[in-house]
Amino acid sequence: MKQIVMLCLSLGFFVACSNQKKSADITWNDNAHLVSKVDSVLKMMTLEEKVGQMNLLTSDWTITGPSLRSDYIDLIKSGKVGNIFNAHTAAYTRSLQKIAMEQTRMKIPLLFGYDVIHGYKTIFPISLSESASWDLEAIETSARVAATEAAAAGLHWTFAPMVDIARDPRWGRISEGAGEDTYLGSQIAIARVKGFQGNSLEDLNTVMACAKHFAAYGAAQAGRDYNTVDMSDRVLRDVYLPPFKAALDAGVATFMTAFNDVDGTPASGSAYLLDQILRKEWNFKGFVVTDYTSINELVEHGVVANHKDAAAMAANAGMDMDMQSMAFGDYLVQLVKEGKVPEKKVDDAVRRILAMKFRLGLFDDPYRYSDETREKEVLFSKDNLEKARDVARKSFVLLKNDKQMLPLSKDKKIALVGYLADSQVDMLGSWTGAGEASQVTTILEGMKERFPNITYTKGCDVNTDDRSGFGSAIAAAKNADVVVFVMGEKGNMSGEATSRSNINIPGVQTELLAELKKTGKPVVVLLANGRPLTIEKEVELADAMLEIWYPGTQAGLAVTDVLAGDYNPSGKLPVTFPRNVGQIPIFYNVKNTGRPFKEDDKYTTKYLDVSNDPLFVFGYGLSYTTFIYSDCNLSSNEMTADGSIKVSVTVTNTGNYDGSEIVQLYVRDLVGSVTRPVKELKGFQKIFIPKGDSQKVTFTLKPEDLAFTRADNTWGTESGEFEVFVGSNSRDVQSARFNLR
Ligand code: GLC
Repeated sequence: MKQIVMLCLSLGFFVACSNQKKSADITWNDNAHLVSKVDSVLKMMTLEEKVGQMNLLTSDWTITGPSLRSDYIDLIKSGKVGNIFNAHTAAYTRSLQKIAMEQTRMKIPLLFGYDVIHGYKTIFPISLSESASWDLEAIETSARVAATEAAAAGLHWTFAPMVDIARDPRWGRISEGAGEDTYLGSQIAIARVKGFQGNSLEDLNTVMACAKHFAAYGAAQAGRDYNTVDMSDRVLRDVYLPPFKAALDAGVATFMTAFNDVDGTPASGSAYLLDQILRKEWNFKGFVVTDYTSINELVEHGVVANHKDAAAMAANAGMDMDMQSMAFGDYLVQLVKEGKVPEKKVDDAVRRILAMKFRLGLFDDPYRYSDETREKEVLFSKDNLEKARDVARKSFVLLKNDKQMLPLSKDKKIALVGYLADSQVDMLGSWTGAGEASQVTTILEGMKERFPNITYTKGCDVNTDDRSGFGSAIAAAKNADVVVFVMGEKGNMSGEATSRSNINIPGVQTELLAELKKTGKPVVVLLANGRPLTIEKEVELADAMLEIWYPGTQAGLAVTDVLAGDYNPSGKLPVTFPRNVGQIPIFYNVKNTGRPFKEDDKYTTKYLDVSNDPLFVFGYGLSYTTFIYSDCNLSSNEMTADGSIKVSVTVTNTGNYDGSEIVQLYVRDLVGSVTRPVKELKGFQKIFIPKGDSQKVTFTLKPEDLAFTRADNTWGTESGEFEVFVGSNSRDVQSARFNLR
């Protein structure tokens, strides 16, 4: 009896302490006030209870990996699990929290995590699509709405943003990130962390974010998911790590390690990544969770012989929380007692985890996120749906528009074709959170509202060789003024474990496109996909092509806004589109090589059967209007080590529509101590220019923008000549030169 009384008193103490502080002055886990509260809990815990806080198990509501334990509730009761994922809604999280608060000795609140990648209920465009907007405000808004809805549904933590740089579209998870570029990916990582975490984790409409998958998961060999990653430390640090560092500098609360090995050591057991880089070099104060069963998978990687050794390797490397392996739960107490893992490792991990639970206000009120009344008010609100529609239309990329076919006048007789035009679930893409396909406005529904003269025929499925629907689609085309054909991949053909060895349009969709083209009617293709596709033939056949990716809950409304000209498309590709799979990996910021391609010289870098150039370059995207760039000027042709130069350009809207343009700034270091890319994105600005108007756009370049990992492996700049490029994509640019002194 005495012990329980002690405990209630001490818990009362925590509540008193945490109630004393209401400001957002807890900036981080080393805040003295917070530290004292965490330590007051820690010193009351047994080793078993401490290890319990280092375990994260999935509920049986959704399974996002290869295994499931049916005893997760018993393990909560026994204090062996302190965190749950894939459990959501106010009611369900409240019921699980009640178990922890009423049936465990320490009564430490559970954390609830979930993959809220591009929306919880109101689903926004997939992350790659949002990234195509290059609109940081829109991207932050998307994460803000996602956090607001997730937090209203009992969730404290999202496993996002995924910040993996991806240069290989065979890898299905390219759909979940911000594409191929380090600078764009870093800016988007910041926007997403700010959106999810808001100003303070104590605010009820914020959730902890999670920078994943640390690190270099997108560099899986051959684009095959979970495959080996092998790269120089220089490429790791200059290309793949900066978005993680950007997320950390933006205050991200947690990291998640990747499944893959990096240079021979699996990320979840890598002291180099978890201790040397994350803690010593970057001074990260949050906690790190593994990906799904990654600790146990150290055995399959072949770096340990059994799960006990795996637990030791991960704990000693600095891992804080074990997702779904229960390797910590099964072995860590024993390993500490055997002296194979210092108890300090456990204490450090538990301090970081408890600190987050305090920062979320869970010790004040463990049920504060699990409020059914708030949940009903927030989910699918009109405002959230409107924001999803706005972000979606900003994410579309106009790839072709011959003879200004688009936008379509509303009196046009339209033959809408394609399985995807009438699909709800596919418009959500992958990682659909708690999204409801039934709430999706299909492209057909959206277009019917604005184009009274529309017929719909499926024509064919996405991924079968059934041509039986061709006839009716062709007949509809013959009776129409214009054909709109929605083609591409099904929403589940990208995302986790969906690598493709060829990235053509699947099924017989391209055959149908060719048949529709033979009718002589103009054809607009709407491309629905989660990765770049090899669509050279389709681009040739189409008169116009709009990349719509997977636009989310408001798909049909957003697509119609653009087709009808209510929104002038402004998106730019965040990934390169190859001509064929043989060109992969293909990306814009390549090295020059010693034998750069020359048309008239055999002995230069090239293929015999395809050009080196991609189908669409990084940063490419058209508008209903046209923009002309002129007067690219530098404020000086000399930059001092402590100075900066301004790069300006004038952009003129010479077409018939008001529109937004994403002006891009690239730099090339002409001579370095190591080979340097021919271009690197160092800035962009999205500007709105009314038709006929001009606008001067100015960028400020500083020496730190030119820093890289030099030949001696130190980070910094090198004096010498640089070239600056400004333009509407990574190819069509104006340039000037300057010297860094
Ligand atoms: C999955 C994914 C990861 C996700 C986690 C939890 O396997 O790799 O991105 O957050 O498991 O669902």
